[in-house]
Amino acid sequence: MDLARRLAGRTCIITGSGGSIGRATCLRFAAEGANVVGCDINPDGAEETVRLVAEAGGTMISIHPADLTNKMVCAEVVAAAVAKFGGVDVLFNNGAMAYFAWIEDMADETWYKTINQELDLVFLMTRAVWPELVKSSGAIVNVASLSAWAGIELLPGLAHSAAKGGVLSMTRELAMEGRKHGIRANSVSPGTIETNQTRFILDDPEWCRIQLGRAMINRMGQPEEVASVVAFLASDDASYVTGADIAVDGGVRAW
Ligand SMILES: NC(=O)c1ccc[n+]([C@@H]2O[C@H](COP(=O)([O-])OP(=O)(O)OC[C@H]3O[C@@H](n4cnc5c(N)ncnc54)[C@H](O)[C@@H]3O)[C@@H](O)[C@H]2O)c1
Repeated sequence: MDLARRLAGRTCIITGSGGSIGRATCLRFAAEGANVVGCDINPDGAEETVRLVAEAGGTMISIHPADLTNKMVCAEVVAAAVAKFGGVDVLFNNGAMAYFAWIEDMADETWYKTINQELDLVFLMTRAVWPELVKSSGAIVNVASLSAWAGIELLPGLAHSAAKGGVLSMTRELAMEGRKHGIRANSVSPGTIETNQTRFILDDPEWCRIQLGRAMINRMGQPEEVASVVAFLASDDASYVTGADIAVDGGVRAW
């Protein structure tokens, strides 16, 4: 195996390809030789990722705008991957949108839309791609979160942590159901990763104390540092790893 191109010829669906971690993973997978199939509800971000991957010499198509809470749209993404590349080997369930409220202020709508846009879409996309993963004995990597494991003092993450806890435990179940097809399913749980949404923390001492003070590696993670772990889990280097979660949080969970 060419260790620099572990995903050569593998067709990989990456959801939320227009966002921070999604884009970094598209670039990483393309650099490792994958046929990348991006999809995102945000067409501008998705288009920019296609441009960056092409500029880097990678292979990528993208379906956007694609709202993955709609099962018909999930089916369209899979159909596009099969039409272009003949099948699907890897699904990276990364795209999600969370809404935050303390329990006293949690409106029904806030709860349900977080579960829909963080958990339901993972189920819908996985179900849509499952027959292709059965054919390819493929791999699933889901994005859970530190929030699936622990409360974060300043973050009103009740619905978010419930959704990510669902992703975490659904991953174990997918590993169990997938084993007879040679499908592996794993998750990553990022801590605080530097993105447009989290950068404000750096300017706020109280947020810094809570979020970064808990990390052994006392800084924010970079999207590329999540992408490299996802690439490992998607590749044959992780051939004996299934039903696992890897913390990508600078050591928060262990301290
Ligand atoms: N950034 C962090 O600190 C952090 C920490 C833990 C977990 N995560 C998780 O990592 C993943 C990526 O987060 P990010 O920080 O890159 O955020 P991001 O907002 O940059 O990227 C998420 C992408 O998903 C897309 N998306 C949202 N809802 C969608 C839908 N219904 N259909 C299709 N696309 C949709 C968005 O348009 C966006 O481009 C998410 O699952 C997030 O919960 C992030």
